[in-house]
Amino acid sequence: MSITVYAPASMGNVGVGYDLLGAALAPIDGSLLGDRVMIEAADSGVHYSQTGPWAHKLPEDGKQNIVYQCAEFFLEKLNSTQGVVIDLEKNLPVGSGLGSSASSVVAALYALNEHFEQPFDEQALLLLMGEFEGMISGSVHFDNVAPCYLGGMQLMLNTPKQVCATIPSFKQWYWVVAYPGISLSTAKMRELLPSQYDKSVAIDFARHLSAFVHASYQQDAYLAIAVLKDVMAEPYRAEAIPGYTDARSELEKLGMLTTGISGSGPTLFSVTDSLETAQAAQVWLEQHYLSEAGGFAHVCKLDESGTRRV
Ligand code: HSE
Repeated sequence: MSITVYAPASMGNVGVGYDLLGAALAPIDGSLLGDRVMIEAADSGVHYSQTGPWAHKLPEDGKQNIVYQCAEFFLEKLNSTQGVVIDLEKNLPVGSGLGSSASSVVAALYALNEHFEQPFDEQALLLLMGEFEGMISGSVHFDNVAPCYLGGMQLMLNTPKQVCATIPSFKQWYWVVAYPGISLSTAKMRELLPSQYDKSVAIDFARHLSAFVHASYQQDAYLAIAVLKDVMAEPYRAEAIPGYTDARSELEKLGMLTTGISGSGPTLFSVTDSLETAQAAQVWLEQHYLSEAGGFAHVCKLDESGTRRV
C-alpha cells in the first residue's frame, strides 16, 4: 500500500514575528504550492527518487537529500528490517522564502510516521521536523515546519511541553505572495542581521508581536495591520532582495494594506481584504517583481489543514 502526503508552503516570520510566527499558504486557484512525498514498503533499505519541477536544483546524489536522511533515520530508530521506497515531488523552489526545505522534511517525516503506524506523537514529530530542517537552514527554528505541519497561523512557544500554538487568523484576508525566481540562502540572510539590538527596537518588536496576537484574538483587523511591522529583519534584508523596496511602495499605492518579506526572502507577501486589489497586485508583481524563469505570484488564503494524506 502506498501513501502520498502533501505539505504546504509557509511564510516564516509573517513580518511581525521573527522566528516566532509562521503561516501556511493555499493558492485560491487550487495551484499546487507544496511538496509531495510518496512512500511504500520495500524489502530492505531506502530507495529514494526525486521528481517534480524543482528536483533539478537538489543535490544529484540522492543520499545527500534530507528526505533520504529522514527515511534512514526512521529505519535505524525503529530497527526496521523492512525498507521503504520514497519519492520526493519537489514543487517548491529552493531558497525562496516559502519554507521549501520545511515542506520536504515535514512531508517526509509525516509520511514515514504514517507508514510505520505513528511511532511518534505530534510534539515529538514536530521536534524532529525542526531538527532536520535546521540541518538545511543552518539553525533550528520552527516558524516554517510548525505551520507547514499543523496549518494556519502558528505562534512559537518553545516550551518543553509545547513547541507552538495555533492563533486565530483573519479569514477575510488575501495573502498575495510573489517569488521572483532567484534563490537566497537562509543562512546568509540570517547573517545580515545584527547580533544585538537597541532596547527601543526590542520594545517595538515585543509590542508589535504581542499587539498582533492580541488583535488576532480580538479579530481587530485594523489593529493587526497597524502593528504588522518588521523591525527585526526587514531593515537589514530589504536591500539584499532586488526590487523589494520598490515593490513595497507600489503595492501600497495599489491599495494593499501591508507588505513584508516571507521568511528570509526573496518571496514577498502582501495583504488585502479585497479580491480585486489582490488580483491587481498579482498582475503588477508578475509584470514587475518576477525576474527569472520559474518565478510566480499567487493570491492565497491560509492553508488551515497543514500536512495531509492526499
Ligand atoms: N525565521 C527564519 C528567518 C525563516 O527569517 O531566517 C526562514 O527560514
